[in-house]
Amino acid sequence: MYNKIDLEKIDTNGEVPVLETDRQYYFMEKCRGYVRELERKLGRRPTFFTQTFGCQMNARDSEKLSGILKGIGYEEAESEEADFVVYNTCTVRENANLRVYGRLGVLHGYKKKNPDMKIALCGCMMQETEVVQKIQKSYRFVDLIFGTHNIFKFAELLAMVFEADRMVIDIWKDTNQIVEDLPVARKYPFKSGVNIMFGCNNFCSYCIVPYVRGRERSREPEDIIREIEKLVADGVVEVMLLGQNVNSYGKNLKMPISFAELLREIEKIDGLQRIRFMTSHPKDLSMELIQVMAESKKICKHLHLPLQSGSSRLLKIMNRKYTKEQYLALAEEIRKQIPDISLTTDIIVGFPGETEEDFLETLDVVRRVRYDSAFTFQYSKRTGTPAAAMEEQIPAEVVTERFDRLLETVQKISCEMAERFTGTKQMVLIEEENKRMQGYLDGRLSNNHVVHLKGEASLIGKIVKVRLDECKGFYYMGSLTEGKKTR
Ligand code: 5AD
Ligand code: SF4
Repeated sequence: MYNKIDLEKIDTNGEVPVLETDRQYYFMEKCRGYVRELERKLGRRPTFFTQTFGCQMNARDSEKLSGILKGIGYEEAESEEADFVVYNTCTVRENANLRVYGRLGVLHGYKKKNPDMKIALCGCMMQETEVVQKIQKSYRFVDLIFGTHNIFKFAELLAMVFEADRMVIDIWKDTNQIVEDLPVARKYPFKSGVNIMFGCNNFCSYCIVPYVRGRERSREPEDIIREIEKLVADGVVEVMLLGQNVNSYGKNLKMPISFAELLREIEKIDGLQRIRFMTSHPKDLSMELIQVMAESKKICKHLHLPLQSGSSRLLKIMNRKYTKEQYLALAEEIRKQIPDISLTTDIIVGFPGETEEDFLETLDVVRRVRYDSAFTFQYSKRTGTPAAAMEEQIPAEVVTERFDRLLETVQKISCEMAERFTGTKQMVLIEEENKRMQGYLDGRLSNNHVVHLKGEASLIGKIVKVRLDECKGFYYMGSLTEGKKTR
C-alpha cells in the first residue's frame, strides 16, 4: 500500500517526473488538491464507486483504480449515486457490452441531479474503436475513457479530467510496459489477486481477448514474490495468481522460468497459506505443474481447465491446439495424481458450424471428466475475430436447446461430484458473513466449493476446520469442529 506521507512530500509546483511510478504519485498529489477543492464546494467528502464487469483480471484492476481514488481523497460509496463512478468493462460476449450501455442511461440520470459527478469508462470494451465512437456520439456526459494498456496512468488522466472541461479519451493499441508499486485497495483484507502476466497470444478464433488485452507479457518473478511478501505482511493468507494463460508464464522473460518453477518459489513464502491460479490453457499444462500441485501443501486442490468444445474437429477450427483425446488424457492424469482435486471448465455452445455430432462429443467429455462445475456460454459473435466471419452461424433456437441440455448434464454431475465430500472435515477460509442467514458465515474449501456455517464474524480471514454436514448441490452446510485453527 502507498503511504500518505510520501504523497505530501511531493512538490506539485516542481517538474513532472518522467519515470513511472513517481510520475503517477505526482499526479495523485495534484488530484488530492482538486478533490480537497471539491470537498469544500460540496461541504462533505466526495464519494466514488467502481463497478466491475467480467473476469478476475478486471476485478484486480478495479482494486487498483479504487486504490488511487481513495489515495486522492474520495470515500467509497455503496451505490452508483456517487461523485465519481468508474465502469471497468468486459467485451468477451455481446451481452456484457449491452449491460454497460443500459447502465449508462441510469448514470446519466444521476449526473443530471449532481453536476459535479464524473463518469469514467475503462477496460476491454474501450479497446474497440466502434464502442468509443458510439460513446462520443451518444453518451456525451461521460468524462473519461481509457483502455486496458494505460490503466497505470489513471492518476494522470484524472488530473486531466479535473483540468479540462471536455471528454478525455486515451486509448493505447498495446504496450510493453509493466508499472509496479501503484496503490491498491483490496476488497478482502485476507485474500488478493496477483497479476503474473498480462495479455494473450493464443488467438482462439472466437475470442476478442488478444485484441483488447494485447500480447503476452510476464512480470519478473522477483516482482511477483516481492508483491506477495508485502501482501502477506499486510494480512493476506490466500493469493490468486492471474493471467489469461498462466501455463505459458515466464517463457518470454530474459531469464525464462516456468509457471511450475514460479509456484515452487511462491510456496516458500512464510505466512502464505493458500495459492490459487487462473486460467490454465490445456495445451500448455505441463507434467511438471501437475507434480508441483500434487506435492504442494499450499496450492489449492482446484484446476480450472477450459474445454470450450469436446469435438476435435471444432477444437481445430477454434485454434485450441489440442484434441478431445489429448484433453481427456490430461484430465485423467490430473485426477490420477491429485485424486481429490476439483476440475472446473468453460464450454461454448453454438460455435459456427457446430453439428449435433460435435455437440454430443462435448456432452461425452462432460460425462467422462465429471466436472465439479462448469461455466457454460452461448457463442457470441465478436467483430474482428475469425469466427465472426465464418459461415454457418448457428440459429438461436438450436443454440438454446443445446445449451439447456448441456446445463442439465453439467448440473447433475456437479451435484453428484459435490456429494463425495459430504461428511468429511476440510480446512475452510472464512470469507464473509452470510447475507441472508443471520449468524452464518461463508467459507471456501481448498477445492473452491462454498460452505455456510454458524460462527462468529471474528473468524473472517481465518482458516478453520469444518465438517461438511450436508451437500446442497452447489454448496454445503457445515459446522465448525474442534480442529486446529490457523492464525
Ligand atoms: N462467445 C462465447 N463465449 C466466449 N468465451 C470467450 N469468447 C467467447 C465468445 N465469443 C468464453 C470462453 C472463455 C471464457 C472466459 O469466455 O469459454 O474461456
Ligand atoms: Fe481467449 Fe483463448 Fe486467450 Fe483464453 S486463451 S483469452 S479463450 S484467446
